[in-house]
Amino acid sequence: MHDNIESHLKEKRVFKPAKNFAQKARIKNLAQYQRMYRESIKRPDKFWSREAKELSWQKPWRKVLEWKAPFAKWFAGGKLNLSENCLDRHLTTHRRNKAAILWEGEPGEKRTLTYQQLHREVCRFANVLKRNKIGKGDRVIIYLPTIPEAAIAMLACARIGAVHSVVFGGFSADSIRDRIHDSGAIALITADGSYRRGGIVPLKKNVDDALRVGTSVKRVIVFQRAHNQIHMEEGRDVWWHRELEYVDDDCPPTALDSEHPLYILYTSGSTGKPKGILHTTGGYLVGIYSTTKYVFDIRDEDIFWCTADIGWVTGHSYVVYGPLANGATTFMYEGAPNWPEPDRFWRIIEQNRVNILYTAPTAIRAFIRWGDQWVKKHDLSSLRLLGTVGEPINPEAWMWYHKNIGGGRCPVVDTWWQTETGAILITPLPGAIPTKPGSATLPFFGVDPAVVDPNGKEVGANVGGKLIIRRPWPSMLRTIYGDKQRYQKQYWSEYKGNYLTGDGARRDQDGYFWIVGRIDDVLNVAGHRLGTSEIESALVSHAKVAEAAVVGRPDELKGQGVVAFVTVKTGVDASNDLKAELREHVGTHIGAIAKPDEVRFAEALPKTRSGKIMRRLLKEIASGAKVTGDTTTLEDFSVLAKLSESDE
Ligand code: WT7
Repeated sequence: MHDNIESHLKEKRVFKPAKNFAQKARIKNLAQYQRMYRESIKRPDKFWSREAKELSWQKPWRKVLEWKAPFAKWFAGGKLNLSENCLDRHLTTHRRNKAAILWEGEPGEKRTLTYQQLHREVCRFANVLKRNKIGKGDRVIIYLPTIPEAAIAMLACARIGAVHSVVFGGFSADSIRDRIHDSGAIALITADGSYRRGGIVPLKKNVDDALRVGTSVKRVIVFQRAHNQIHMEEGRDVWWHRELEYVDDDCPPTALDSEHPLYILYTSGSTGKPKGILHTTGGYLVGIYSTTKYVFDIRDEDIFWCTADIGWVTGHSYVVYGPLANGATTFMYEGAPNWPEPDRFWRIIEQNRVNILYTAPTAIRAFIRWGDQWVKKHDLSSLRLLGTVGEPINPEAWMWYHKNIGGGRCPVVDTWWQTETGAILITPLPGAIPTKPGSATLPFFGVDPAVVDPNGKEVGANVGGKLIIRRPWPSMLRTIYGDKQRYQKQYWSEYKGNYLTGDGARRDQDGYFWIVGRIDDVLNVAGHRLGTSEIESALVSHAKVAEAAVVGRPDELKGQGVVAFVTVKTGVDASNDLKAELREHVGTHIGAIAKPDEVRFAEALPKTRSGKIMRRLLKEIASGAKVTGDTTTLEDFSVLAKLSESDE
């Protein structure tokens, strides 16, 4: 009876797409979305064929989908090349001299690469790869900052059929070594160093440390970025710029099977050993192509800025592949949002007249904390659409984003997806779907999600449960690299034939999806199962709060007690009175059951490098235990130490 997750937060605000936005959008109203959605579910082959035919294929597919659960082949029998679709395809059009990449380094340098220039650089670097005996099917680690060369290296791998695995530039030598080991990579592409908050991250040194013990890596190609002193290992390491002297720019794209592996990206969820999520060519391309087209309603004249690092799936799908497949202009920024000052993003938007901004709730909460004055200094009138991804966005953070960044005029697309899904699966379409702050709204075309109880039965409106996807989609992961069994067990066995997302969710009376957090984080308070996001959103709706994370701790009476970790806005006094006030605030917004038993103020919350709150660690701290779990993905270790000390 108490197996379902309860929902208490009722968000009533609805924002209809503005008329002038909707008129120009590809999908102009709800009815059109519903018609297309129905078609995509009833006749998926027809729907996806039409999308795929907008792209270049060297050989047409035989079958849109071959599904032997849980193994999928999309566009089976087809041959294509992803880099050809991102580059060559545009060279015979008006886009030839259009900016493909606009880039800004943290120290302030700017670079522009037109499609023709990017094509040439990719061809040359693909020839460098070949010259270094890297070929089709070989795994290549890319350990670079968010600079154009990261995109060039990815596209060059794709061009010759090498499988890239990008490792986030903030990860350590150990993480690199684990990923080399798991993927069996034979080559690694890195830079001497990268800039972060004015300092230099010694990328090459980390690589040297990772390679100190014998690994499968035979060749390291080093791009000169920060000009810091590095060691070059004779016979193993070569300079990117020197290698270019030996190659020409002729490199036809290799025809690859639609299911040829494109990349492996390691994700930890937030626990345990990283899994190598494998994505392949044809289906992935179609997925990121059509989501970029419809979700961002991207236009030739747009400047699209997705702020993700290249090391995350968001960087793969919406900094590089999605925008370039659409012939768009993608903006890349190398550094931190608060360098040299907390207004760097707004300065960039003003200077470059950015039109679409896609960022994460963690960033938005930081901006709120730093104060509105940083935003107000800049003219953000070029923006026409905003997006978020990565965590549930608290309704008040959504409102702030909408009002202060979007000037109340830009639709906000809250896009739900995962490393595993490759592309956005649940999302508003900005001209068609009315938005509600905190909801990712409705499924994208061809996606069939449901909220189910432990028996796999779909629950009713506003009842929480597990979020599953009931049929395959083109950009889905194909396996966990080297571990079919784990793939099968982790994602497809709990509800046989359905994909388990690991998230809790509810669907409201309008069919809108509300993600309530990871299933592992759900609390059980006196028999009531409560998702973390609603209590956190209630806390964040208090005027003095910037950010909150809620976890359970063992409680003799209730099973679990509620502990809230809270960071307050700059200048707010974190007093005991405020603690009491916050408990009451949650009580009135959600109900007595969700009132925190304890509120703890924290200077900062422990987060993964991609900005997700690590509730698992907070849980250990809240229950007075020593933190024992895996902390390798933690962004800032000092945060953990401070939290453990802060007991009164
Ligand atoms: C998990 C996936 C997908 C790119 C970045 C994260 C959470 C993601 C949303 C959203 C609520 C969200 C989920 C999901 N998540 N987007 N719009 N609303 N939750 O990729 O690291 O693989 O994480 O992020 O919990 O399962 P990832």
